[in-house]
Amino acid sequence: MPGRIEPMTDFFTERLSTYDEHMLTDIEELPEAYAMVARLIPPDAQTLLDLGCGTGLELERVFELHPDILVTGIDLTQAMLDRLRGKFPGKELTLICGSYLGRDLGERIYDAAISFETMHHWTYAQKSTLYADIFKALKPRGRYVECDYMVDTQDEADRMFEEALRLRAEQGVPDGEFYHCDTPMTVDNQMRLFKEAGFASVETAFRRNGTAIIVCDKI
Ligand SMILES: C[S@@+](CC[C@H](N)C(=O)[O-])C[C@H]1O[C@@H](n2cnc3c(N)ncnc32)[C@H](O)[C@@H]1O
Repeated sequence: MPGRIEPMTDFFTERLSTYDEHMLTDIEELPEAYAMVARLIPPDAQTLLDLGCGTGLELERVFELHPDILVTGIDLTQAMLDRLRGKFPGKELTLICGSYLGRDLGERIYDAAISFETMHHWTYAQKSTLYADIFKALKPRGRYVECDYMVDTQDEADRMFEEALRLRAEQGVPDGEFYHCDTPMTVDNQMRLFKEAGFASVETAFRRNGTAIIVCDKI
C-alpha cells in the first residue's frame, strides 16, 4: 500500500507512457488473462460493454477473435481513452469518459460486458449497485466477465480496506472522490455479489497469483 494516494485520473495519466508495458510484463499472469477474457466472450456476441477499458489492452485480444464486435468503453481517464482510440483507427468505438459508478448503463443492450483490473477500488455497496446495473444492461442470456485483483482471505481484504480508510482520512479525501487505492475482495465475496445481482451462473475460470477471472451468465 502506498504512503500517499492519488486521484484516480492523475494516477493513470501520470503513468500512461509505461502503462501497457507494466501490465504486460510486470504482472506475470496478465497476458494469459487478457487472452482468456477474449475467449470467454460468446462467439456470437455483437455488442460489448467494457468497463474501465483504459488503453484497450483487453480489446486488442477481443478484436483478434471478434473483429466486428461493437464496443462501448467507459473510463474515467481521458488520456487512457485517447491512447485506446489511437490503437484502433479503423474501429467504430463508442467511448465515454466518466465513471461507470452511478451511470445509467441502459437496459438489455449488450450481449456481453467485461471489466479488467478496475473493480478492486470499490466497496461492497458500490459494487452491489454496479453489478445490478450491469445485469440490467445485458440482454437475456448475456454474459459478464470480470478479471480483477482478488485476495484469498477476509483478513487480508479487511486489512487493505482499513488501510485505505486510514489513508483517505489522513489526506482528507472527501467521500465519493475517486482515488487510486487497492481494496480487493475475496473471490468468495465477489461470487456472492454476482449472485446477489441476479446472475444465475457464476464460475471462477482463472486464478493465479492475485488475479481471478469470474464468468457470470444471466441465462
Ligand atoms: C488498471 S487500469 C485497467 C485498464 C484496462 N482495463 C486494462 O486492463 O489495461 C484501471 C482503469 O479503470 C479506470 N477507472 C477507475 N475507476 C473508474 C470509474 N469509476 N469509472 C470508469 N473508469 C474507471 C481507470 O481510469 C483506468 O483506466
